[in-house]
Amino acid sequence: MDFDGDDSVARRVQAFAARFTEGKLNDLYFYNQAVAEIRGGSRVLVNGREMGMYASYSYLGLLGHPRINEAARKAVDKFGTGTNGVRTLAGTLTLHEELEETIAQFKETEAAITYTSGYVTNLTVISTLMGRGDYVLSDKLNHASIVDGCLMSGAEFRRFKHNDMIDLEHRLQQIPDGAARLVVADAVFSMDGDVIDLPRLSALCRQYNAYLMIDEAHSLGVLGPTGHGIEEYYGLHNVVDIKMGTLSKTIPSVGGYVAGAQPLIDYLRHTTRAYIFSAALPPAQAAAANEAFKVIVDEPWRIAKLNRNTGLFIAGLRRAGFDTLLTTTAIVPVLCGSDERAYALTREAQHHDVFVLPVVSPAVPDGQARLRATITAAHEPQEIEHAMDVISTAGRQIGII
Ligand SMILES: Cc1ncc(COP(=O)(O)O)c(C=O)c1O
Repeated sequence: MDFDGDDSVARRVQAFAARFTEGKLNDLYFYNQAVAEIRGGSRVLVNGREMGMYASYSYLGLLGHPRINEAARKAVDKFGTGTNGVRTLAGTLTLHEELEETIAQFKETEAAITYTSGYVTNLTVISTLMGRGDYVLSDKLNHASIVDGCLMSGAEFRRFKHNDMIDLEHRLQQIPDGAARLVVADAVFSMDGDVIDLPRLSALCRQYNAYLMIDEAHSLGVLGPTGHGIEEYYGLHNVVDIKMGTLSKTIPSVGGYVAGAQPLIDYLRHTTRAYIFSAALPPAQAAAANEAFKVIVDEPWRIAKLNRNTGLFIAGLRRAGFDTLLTTTAIVPVLCGSDERAYALTREAQHHDVFVLPVVSPAVPDGQARLRATITAAHEPQEIEHAMDVISTAGRQIGII
């Protein structure tokens, strides 16, 4: 099959190919560029050029941390590079149990369960917990993995306006008595960088008898004075029933987790299809993740430095005249308007060795294309100043500011 026919699949493939080829021809395609080397945490070698990295999820700069690398190496020496299969049968290692205990302690819950990706965690957990006749209420800007989990569940799926507690309450009131309901939201929104209003959200969930699930992909290690996440940030304790997070961002590994009450975790361990029917997290990744949680506790200066760096970057861009929406976190949207302007700003930034990437429609609303810059604890203030100079100069040339 060469996809040159005129059925709907071929038409979709051809339309994409045309867009893709045009982007490449005009030097406006920036995705899937391979990093050849990571240098000193904040710099990377891409296409033979060393650039400052402003697109990394390694918020605390833990990627390449000697303690974490060493833990991974030891795990390979002891267990090899894979497992004996799925967790339920012969795939569970003592390393998985240690990791789950560490996560439960870190998140102050009775237990935790891990999966092989954050994406699959949301998919399998939401679709297992919720079913026909139940109601799922999801913030409009939630991550795709949450949306997919909700759709797959077969439950009534309602989106409430972004971080809008009045709209959420209105929707909670519309649910028939007796129906099970789940409210789900990102802690830090992955395109905008703003923080969910957990105090009001959790109060509404209590009032309307709804389970609350929060995705901490971008808040673990980032929010709260010691990086323990959204509850620490607001000074709340165990108001979230299903504490989901990833092991691929601040935690420099791969995987996802849910932390919560023991009966919930026991249930998920025996019902979620991604746990039962898919191979276990490899030993090196489980050990690296486990060690990373310990490093966060042992090196709190990283959180303080991340906060200083983030403040510097956001304030500088705003002073220069950029709209950075409501971010207060390490994800910093730099609004450009049209897709073309976002591409042009990316090209200028990368030509001046600032590795930052654009997000365009349909990932964000039309007219709200942006750079999605990220800041980490590995950056030094003078590097951040340089990146801001590059972005501001280009922004003025293109007419964004
Ligand atoms: C909010 C959110 N949830 C879940 C995921 C999926 O996590 P993973 O990349 O570990 O599969 C992401 C990834 O970008 C995310 O931003």
